[in-house]
Amino acid sequence: MSNERERLSQMATGAWLTQMVYVAAKLEIADHLAKGSRTVTDLAAAVNVQAGPLHRLLRGLASVGVFVEGEPQQFALNPAAEFLRDDHPQSVRPLVIMTGETQYEAWADLLHSVQTGKTGFEHRFGRPLFDYLGDHPDQAAMFDRAMTSIHGRETAAILDAYDFRPFRRVVDVGGGNGSQLIEILRKHRNLSGMVFDLPHVVERARVALQAANLANRCDTRGGSFFEAVPAGCDAYLLRHIIHDWDDAQSHTILKCVRQAIPQHGKLLIIETVIPPGNDPCFAKLLDIAMLVIPGGLERTHEQYTALLAEAGFQLTRVVPTTGGVDVIEAVPV
Ligand SMILES: C[S@@+](CC[C@H](N)C(=O)[O-])C[C@H]1O[C@@H](n2cnc3c(N)ncnc32)[C@H](O)[C@@H]1O
Repeated sequence: MSNERERLSQMATGAWLTQMVYVAAKLEIADHLAKGSRTVTDLAAAVNVQAGPLHRLLRGLASVGVFVEGEPQQFALNPAAEFLRDDHPQSVRPLVIMTGETQYEAWADLLHSVQTGKTGFEHRFGRPLFDYLGDHPDQAAMFDRAMTSIHGRETAAILDAYDFRPFRRVVDVGGGNGSQLIEILRKHRNLSGMVFDLPHVVERARVALQAANLANRCDTRGGSFFEAVPAGCDAYLLRHIIHDWDDAQSHTILKCVRQAIPQHGKLLIIETVIPPGNDPCFAKLLDIAMLVIPGGLERTHEQYTALLAEAGFQLTRVVPTTGGVDVIEAVPV
């Protein structure tokens, strides 16, 4: 088979792997193997499934490098499977669960999204993503953790590339479970901060800040960034917020930031600026996830410049990072 033909065939069957790894994650197979290898019969009893299908699932996964069958019918963790453990500090399990459940169904409606410009998520579940999460606390908590799985490693790269020393108070708008701000505050001990997000989400951030011993330097505030954002901070951080929304919705959010930000303040939008050309670029795929799930888009430099100008900001510079994202800095005009 030609390489190109092989590549296309792999794309066609990619969803098989999404579901295989999802089922292993959902059943907590990696966690059940944390103390050492186990037979399929033993594992199947522990997770309440049938031994035959479980063996076929794990054999298939081992063939693509996740888990390893040592003795026949006996499986163990390998380096890839370690990341499926829920207690791994860089666990990918929340991301695997999120993409295998509701998001998987939404992706099945990509054709609908391309035909109508509307999200597959709303087509399937009858309401927008963040409304749905408000009524599904377990999935909402998993979503927060999935954001850390997928975007968490960006924080160190942002801190290396962008100098936070001039700031005194930073608000993380749509800051989720607070993991980004926790890392920023740990590095910059003179900074204080605030996590702003929907009320049910900041509750989780508050617990995380307490666990990180940062509650004395960081508040939380619940609210909607379509109505108002906290005033008087000197840096407004919006990581992977603007890409969730279309231009009209993004305009409303940026207008709220514009009303709250002091004249000396800086707006830092963390996204990947879509480059021209055909080179591989994760953001061009994430862009399709934005189409299908929340209804947003990834943008080019020109699109960010225009969006910011319409909301009363001037884009001052784009600082690239080694984490695959850019810091798009803007000031109020
Ligand atoms: C894609 S996640 C990004 C989370 C985090 N900034 C990060 O980089 O991992 C989008 C965040 O926006 C929050 N959000 C959605 N709608 C919101 C609203 N109306 N007001 C405030 N936050 C909202 C979500 O709860 C979620 O935490």
